[in-house]
Amino acid sequence: MSALDDARALFTHVTGRDPEGIWSAPGRVNLIGEHTDYNEGFVLPFAIPHRTFAAAQLRDDDRIRVASTFAEAPVEVGIDDLDRLFPTATGVEPAVPEWSAYALGVAWALRLAVTGAPARGVDIAIASDVPVGAGLSSSAAIEGAVASALNELWNLDADAVTLAQVGRRAENEAVGAPTGIMDQMASMLGRPDAATFIDCLTLETRSVPTGFTAEGLEVLVMDTRVKHAHSTGGYRERREACERGAALLGIPSLRHAGVDDLPRAAELMDDVTFRRVRHVITENQRVLDTVRTLTESGPRAIGDLLVASHASMRDDFEISVPELDLAVETALSQGAVGARMTGGGFGGAAIALVPQEDVGKIADAVTKAFPDAGFAAPHVFTVHPSDGPRRDA
Ligand code: GLA
Repeated sequence: MSALDDARALFTHVTGRDPEGIWSAPGRVNLIGEHTDYNEGFVLPFAIPHRTFAAAQLRDDDRIRVASTFAEAPVEVGIDDLDRLFPTATGVEPAVPEWSAYALGVAWALRLAVTGAPARGVDIAIASDVPVGAGLSSSAAIEGAVASALNELWNLDADAVTLAQVGRRAENEAVGAPTGIMDQMASMLGRPDAATFIDCLTLETRSVPTGFTAEGLEVLVMDTRVKHAHSTGGYRERREACERGAALLGIPSLRHAGVDDLPRAAELMDDVTFRRVRHVITENQRVLDTVRTLTESGPRAIGDLLVASHASMRDDFEISVPELDLAVETALSQGAVGARMTGGGFGGAAIALVPQEDVGKIADAVTKAFPDAGFAAPHVFTVHPSDGPRRDA
């Protein structure tokens, strides 16, 4: 059964009725621009074919009930309870099961963002084929699907950027993960055959044709299956280092520094902070260079930028793990045009841009390299830039 059918079946199982509609939103991979979003910099992600589905229907009362194929039992709260439940202080576990905080947090943030939402309850059933914990934004896909459903059921007419901001707020203040806006924007603005260039300071966006299909290229995702969580640990520390670096440079965010500022940065800060800052500043430049190169010379010319991005994350930002490095190195040694880890790091997935005729060879080589190195088997599959949210039924 597809995830769409799973969402419908779960809805019927929980409520005894058919849903009024089914809405979905995609996961994403980031082509380039990592840990730049919360520094108000540039990113270039694209939506992937894997989606999360929300089957939903208005209720006659003011209760919100959420069910998921990932959880044993539905969670139900009153609309009035949302303001008591959220915001959750950063680093504190939400008062509802974490999986439900994504959906309930969206309901909460949407009511705050758009005036005139009716205090009308809703039943929601969620199912997904976005791999969880792989760095492919399964959480942004839930947020986007639920936001799209509520937007229509509550007649709000909010635009894609508003819904992305709602999703981010849910993630930050309901789930407690201190993430940036990239994932939600990537999911909400997905277009076939195009990546979305996002200026995370102004939230201006531009669809950038990737030309992958025309050039006979595929994007291979190599999910290491090393699990990560951004509500804890390294992600938060990296964010703090960037804020420290910006403060030492006397600027509101690292967006306001360029490669010319690096010599001064080196004098102002300790080695670790400097390397974190150098990653962000050079990564912003690489995003701009990638957009220009894609447009002027096509996707086969961006390989070196992807490889440089990975090296910067491995050596300066220190968010790679041996499994990610192995995936990247193996893909490159077998003929990939470029490869890099994607997403927040500390596990998750790497991507490789590969000629169509080499997909099988490269996938096999990566699949074999993992057990040879004593690592658990990776999950390797292809993706292509795909649609944003939609109503499926
Ligand atoms: C995670 C976060 C994003 C972004 C990336 C790193 O995916 O959710 O906001 O910071 O990590 O680029």
